[in-house]
Amino acid sequence: MSKRDDIPPAYHNVAQHGVFPVASHDERARFNFLANLNKHVAMALGPGNAKAYERRVLPAFRAEHGREPKDRFEIRHAMNADPYHRFWSALKRNNMEMRQQNGRSMVIRQLGELNARARQWNEGRDTLELDPGVAVPRYQAAVDIHCMPGSYHGEVVPGDVSAGANYDCGIFVTTGGGLGALSDGGGQALVKWIARERPGWVPKRILDIGTTIGHNAVPLAVAFPDSEVIAIDTAAPSLRYGHARAQSMGVRNIRFVQANAEELGRFPDGHFDWVQTTMFLHETSGKALPRIIDESYRLLSDGGLMFHLEQPAYTDDMPLFEQFMRDWDAFNNNEPFWSAMHALDLPAVFRRAGFADADLFEAKVRAVVDTSVFPSHREEEVEDFGRAAVWHAYGAWKNSASLRMAAE
Ligand SMILES: C[S@@+](CC[C@H](N)C(=O)[O-])C[C@H]1O[C@@H](n2cnc3c(N)ncnc32)[C@H](O)[C@@H]1O
Repeated sequence: MSKRDDIPPAYHNVAQHGVFPVASHDERARFNFLANLNKHVAMALGPGNAKAYERRVLPAFRAEHGREPKDRFEIRHAMNADPYHRFWSALKRNNMEMRQQNGRSMVIRQLGELNARARQWNEGRDTLELDPGVAVPRYQAAVDIHCMPGSYHGEVVPGDVSAGANYDCGIFVTTGGGLGALSDGGGQALVKWIARERPGWVPKRILDIGTTIGHNAVPLAVAFPDSEVIAIDTAAPSLRYGHARAQSMGVRNIRFVQANAEELGRFPDGHFDWVQTTMFLHETSGKALPRIIDESYRLLSDGGLMFHLEQPAYTDDMPLFEQFMRDWDAFNNNEPFWSAMHALDLPAVFRRAGFADADLFEAKVRAVVDTSVFPSHREEEVEDFGRAAVWHAYGAWKNSASLRMAAE
């Protein structure tokens, strides 16, 4: 067990910035309760699902069907009848609903003040480009993504920052602080990965697709102060909040642009040296994802990097029970594309977009641990806080032969 597992999540570790919502004593206490409940549900109660499966559900399945379950869906149908799994699942779902309720009510209570603070950072700056002509994709508008009322684009009052503010404060419950005080552990990990993979590289322009509030794009802007980061999203309230957040943190080389990644004709071919997403692809759709990859290929310069930080795909090596557990969000947490996306052959999508097989790679990317949250952490510790701390990256260096030739 990692030392970090011994430290209960504590909301006072969350970093404040210019537009961060202020929590009252009770709101903080609720967030602390929910984050610790979430951790308990995952780490103490979660393993009970495997026991229920091995001791009850699988033997009953074999007796009924005379064979093993053939996929994660058969396991789900069988587990959905099991009392332990139903209890665990209901607890997890309720935790998410309570987290949304606490974040939303806290934000709505002070929305006027938050909007005013965001306006102060946003007005008169050309680094926020909103375009009311950009439609929210149907796959985003049709459901409240992970139980978030109004998804990323909903507004309580026109022109507000409510969705972004709720996302920012509530993520603490799901990660327990595991992504750091600024919830930017993914971006920090990317910076570390690139420094190791391609030391000294300074990309001219970086495109972060589906940035939400820029949690993981801001660390790139900080690490590459001479680069321009363009962070795009379809959701205006998230962009308003994200831009104000970055500005209040003094980060100026990042531009927040409202645009749909399926069609980015506003940027010419080869405009970016680095095109990336973090925790994004699973929230698109079967039709949108290949279009986004096609656009990524077009927009990348030769030798440029395409990088997607995600959870691992459901390959044949992954036990079916693990696939079923990882699929929970698809069926219980309003993540409609989650299951299909993790079963997708992403490298095949990349090849169809034009990337050469030899240029594709996969990598494990480990979260950088924020020692202001986990002071006793040592680098050599094994990191496994829930599932968030180690990601699976899918990427490609476009026409990497041109890189080698340039080096010779
Ligand atoms: C899971 S969030 C991404 C999280 C974010 N990258 C981070 O690291 O914190 C998905 C985001 O993608 C945006 N989105 C979905 N489809 C999009 C599209 N076609 N073009 C641009 N943004 C999109 C949503 O509005 C939402 O903000």
